[in-house]
Parts: sequence; structure tokens; C-alpha cells
Amino acid sequence: MKHSIVLIGFMGTGKTEVGKVLSKRLKFNFFDIDNLIEEKTGLKINNIFKKFRENYFRQIEAQIVKEISKEDFAVIACGGGTALNRDNIAILRAKSVIINLYACAEVIYERIKNNNDRPILKCQDPLIKIKELLQVRKDVYINCDFSFNTGGLSILEVVEGLINKINWFHFCV
Ligand code: S3P
Repeated sequence: MKHSIVLIGFMGTGKTEVGKVLSKRLKFNFFDIDNLIEEKTGLKINNIFKKFRENYFRQIEAQIVKEISKEDFAVIACGGGTALNRDNIAILRAKSVIINLYACAEVIYERIKNNNDRPILKCQDPLIKIKELLQVRKDVYINCDFSFNTGGLSILEVVEGLINKINWFHFCV
């Protein structure tokens, strides 16, 4: 039996925004792993990367995953790199349906281009970086129950699409 829903996927695929609306719709609690990392450290993601580097960020992320994996009736939005650690997904999978949100590089770029809070994309050409990372991570995000293309869809359309696609038979509600 599954009790919760976990959204994985690359940056800019809609995990947080979709997660918020989906959780309201299902009357589940909403958790955002990036927010929980910021709360725990008292630092913005940019500053964690700047001061302590990515490894430290990944350690805190793994701790939060362990804590949050115990929640029932939750929608959990992961960070774009949470699924890089297969242990994170294995832990979350015990209670949750794992959904991979995806979109093409150009759509992702349009969504994130005016946003300054993603340290991994701070570089001269973020579109090229997105394409490179999508290639490097292509096997990571398919470690899920199903994938859903959010390109060209509103948040509400994605939420409706997910509700239709989730196999509620295996889900304890
Ligand atoms: C990251 C994605 C970010 C955040 C951090 C690292 C990644 O989350 O966790 O900047 O490695 O892809 P979002 O996908 O919510 O932007």
C-alpha cells in the first residue's frame, strides 16, 4: 500500500507548484525538500552551496528524506538532484508513489531563466548546462512509477493529469 506521493524531476519541471496544488486537492500535507533544507540550516540554497559546497547540501538532503519518508498522506516535492542518490528514492518508495515530472530543455529554460536561486545553473549559458545535465541525469529520473510531461500545461492541467494517472487501487486513501 502507498500512502504518499513524491514528485521528482529536473529543475523547472513544476515539482513545487504542482505539489502545492495537488496536496490541496487531495487534502494531503505538502512538504518541499528544498524548503525543509533551508529551514534546517537557516540558509538559502545558494548560500549552502557557496559556503559549504554541494556535498554538504546532499548530506542534509538525505537526512531530510529520511525524516520526511515517515509521513503519511503527504505530497513531497523533491529537489532536482534528490533522485541522484538512489538510496533517497529507495527510502521514499517504501510508502510513496514516485512520479517523475519532465519537460524539454527549452521549456525548462523559459521557466527558470529569470530566477536566480539555482546555484547549479549559475553559468554563462544555462540552456547548454540544462541540456548537459538532462543528458547526464537521464537514467536517474526514470527510476519512478511513471513520468509525466508538464511542457505546455498549466499547473491545474498537470494536477488533473496526475490524478487520472495515479493507480489509486494500490494507494491507501
Ligand atoms: C538541484 C535542484 C534544486 C535544488 C538545488 C539542486 C539539482 O531544486 O535542490 O539547487 O541538483 O537539480 P529544484 O529542482 O526545486 O529547483
